[in-house]
This record gives sequence, structure tokens and C-alpha cells, in this order.
Amino acid sequence: MVARDPHRFVNELDDAALERIVARLENRAKDQVFARLFDKYAERLDLPPAAQVLEVGCGTGAMMRFLARRRDFSGTGLGVDQSPVLIDAAKKYARDEAVADRVDFRVGDAHSLDLPGDTFDAVIAHTLISHVTNPAEVIGEMARVVKPGGTVVIFDGDYSSLTYGCPDHDLGQRMDAALATATFNNPLIMRDLPRLLPELGLVIHEAWGDAVVEIGGGSFFRSFAETYAPAVINAGLVPAEVVESWLKAQLQAMDEGRFFGACNYYTYMARRF
Ligand SMILES: C[S@@+](CC[C@H](N)C(=O)[O-])C[C@H]1O[C@@H](n2cnc3c(N)ncnc32)[C@H](O)[C@@H]1O
Repeated sequence: MVARDPHRFVNELDDAALERIVARLENRAKDQVFARLFDKYAERLDLPPAAQVLEVGCGTGAMMRFLARRRDFSGTGLGVDQSPVLIDAAKKYARDEAVADRVDFRVGDAHSLDLPGDTFDAVIAHTLISHVTNPAEVIGEMARVVKPGGTVVIFDGDYSSLTYGCPDHDLGQRMDAALATATFNNPLIMRDLPRLLPELGLVIHEAWGDAVVEIGGGSFFRSFAETYAPAVINAGLVPAEVVESWLKAQLQAMDEGRFFGACNYYTYMARRF
């Protein structure tokens, strides 16, 4: 068995796994800490009144809905994702939240976008780049479709920093590493961007890091563990009974206020000249 990033191979998942992904993405978007990380770059976008914004790897469209609800955004958004199921969900959530007139969604591959060049004022990849088959190709496409002078934003985690507190430190490190391997095709890609972005014609104008940390209770890390622990088992990285007892102990620690979980996230804002 080999690790198969569930987002990279989303079109091969069964209905139950897809339901877990939809729930995870929507649950994560409701998390205040995580939502603030989107706002932190959105408020720096400095968009013109009729701006067109593209999100590649939009999933259920939560970031596009955030954008549509911002007071400083009067333009339109387009979300592209490779999963027809996630695109249907994105359209439904946009209708439910009365923003469907501002944001549209369509199926597509971020490696080869069926969109004309020089089109968008901003192009966003929000936790996409860690999952794709070829990050340089995807960033090259983002650089192609953004207008000259427009902004490319890449936001993602550095997943060797993903950690769950565990009284048995050896087991904890083994599970942290297994979760990163099973869930992300490119767990360390955010370290490569200072080199990669200029090679692809993009000039970084702002970049920063944030730690997502939960101490005591756990919400962000609860849905992460529940969604992706099965991927560790499926990849054969850790025996099922060990993963299950680790997960049970994590959920119990959250319920009893003894939980610790953390991961570093990075944001790069770059311009195409
Ligand atoms: C972690 S989710 C992020 C979803 C959304 N950006 C958010 O933050 O809620 C990653 C998404 O990337 C999509 N994805 C992965 N590889 C892709 C590709 N090559 N082209 C388009 N979408 C892709 C997956 O289908 C999944 O919806």
C-alpha cells in the first residue's frame, strides 16, 4: 500500500470519504482561527471595484463565499476544482448563502486551466498546492491567468510542523509523520516558494507565517484527525489498532480539556509583472 493524498485523488474516493471531505472543509471554514487567516490576506488584496478573482482548488467554495461577503469586495469570483461532487456542493452552498450571483464554480484541473491568459486581478490557491501532482505547473498556470500587475496568493501549511500532543512521544512523532505523509502529496512545498515563485515570473511582495494552535479543546484538529486518520490506515503506515487508539485518546483529551495540537501555515503574496 502507498500513501494516496485524498485531495489529489478526490475523484477516486467513495461516497462516505467524499462526505467526510465536504464536512471537513465546511467545518474548517467555520473555525474562527482559520477564517482569520483568509481575512489576513484578503484585506491586503487591494482590488479594483469590478475585480475578477479566481480560486484554484476551491473545494466546497468556502473561501469564495468568504470573499463575496467581504465589504471591501464588489467584484466577482470563480472557483475551479477537479471534483464534480465538490463543485456541486460549492454551487449549493453559494445559493444557500445568497452569494451565487457573485461567485461561480466549474470543474477543471489546476495544472491546465481552460481559461484565457491575463484575465484575473487575483488568483488564490488556499491549501491546494500541498496536494497537487506538480506544484510548479499549477503555479505557472496561476501566473498565466493573472493580469500583469495582478496578485497571486498561495496559502498552505508546512506539514512537518503538524503535531498532536501525545504522552508517548515516539508514537506521537510517528503519527504526526504518518498523517503528513498520508494526507499531503507535497507536505514541505511552502519552503520551496521563495525559490519557485521568481522562477515562474512572480515577485513576492509580502509573505508571513501563522501558527494554528489549539490548547485544551480541539475543533480544527478534531475534524483533521477524524477525516485523515483513515488515510494513515489505508496507506498501511501505522497498524489500524494503533491509529484507532491514538484517535480515541486525542478525542478524549479534547473532551477533557487536555488537548494540544499545532501546525504552521504560510502565506505568499506575489505579483506578476
Ligand atoms: C484542502 S482542499 C481546499 C479547498 C478550498 N480551497 C478550501 O480551503 O476550503 C484541496 C482541494 O484541491 C482540489 N484539487 C486537488 N488537486 C487539484 C487539481 N489538480 N485541480 C483542481 N483541483 C484540485 C481538491 O479536489 C480539493 O477540493
